[in-house]
Amino acid sequence: MDTPLRLEVIIASVRPERFAPVVGGWFLRTLRAHPEFDTGVVDLAHTSLPVELTETEQVVSYRTRLRAADAFVVVTSEYNHGYPASLKTAFDTAKYEWRAKPIAFVSYGGLSGGLRAVEQLRQIVAEIHMVSVRETVSFHQAKKGFDEAGDPHDRAAVDAADRMLRQLAWWARTLRVARAVDPYPG
Ligand SMILES: Cc1cc2nc3c(=O)[nH]c(=O)nc-3n(C[C@H](O)[C@H](O)[C@H](O)COP(=O)(O)O)c2cc1C
Repeated sequence: MDTPLRLEVIIASVRPERFAPVVGGWFLRTLRAHPEFDTGVVDLAHTSLPVELTETEQVVSYRTRLRAADAFVVVTSEYNHGYPASLKTAFDTAKYEWRAKPIAFVSYGGLSGGLRAVEQLRQIVAEIHMVSVRETVSFHQAKKGFDEAGDPHDRAAVDAADRMLRQLAWWARTLRVARAVDPYPG
């Protein structure tokens, strides 16, 4: 129980010209200040998950990876007031692997900073028995929001990331113990 919490960061955008590596890169650097997490990255651009939801070798290894995780963060953009289709497939591809685990969101986009996508995602994750963390990090007009080094201009986002990660760690620790002592009834 003293081992670091296994965190998987899911990068949602799969567009070839995507901005996701800038936001995701900054967030992964931020995580270095949080040794309570042992972090992996599931980049959906490099994780082939069939929209038909058929089982492939990569699907099996994806599920195995999710099963070992104690917590998740989704880094997501917003398209037409929703989240990317790749992310829906990623959620639908697994089932028990998500249950009784916490998830937090880092979003970016145009005017809304991806917040509409995040509010929709809260409905999805509730259905698959996850707990969504209250605090979020969001970047509106994201492409103007980062400097040459890939760091955000908005210090509030940096503070929000710290609060979000502390809340995520609390849920991850609490639910890891709870799952071990009393298996989740679902
Ligand atoms: C098809 C499409 C729809 C978009 N719709 C929205 C939107 O509804 N709200 C918003 O804030 N930004 C919207 N945007 C802007 C994206 O959020 C922005 O381009 C972001 O960088 C996309 O992430 P990505 O480059 O990592 O794929 C849209 C972009 C695309 C390509």
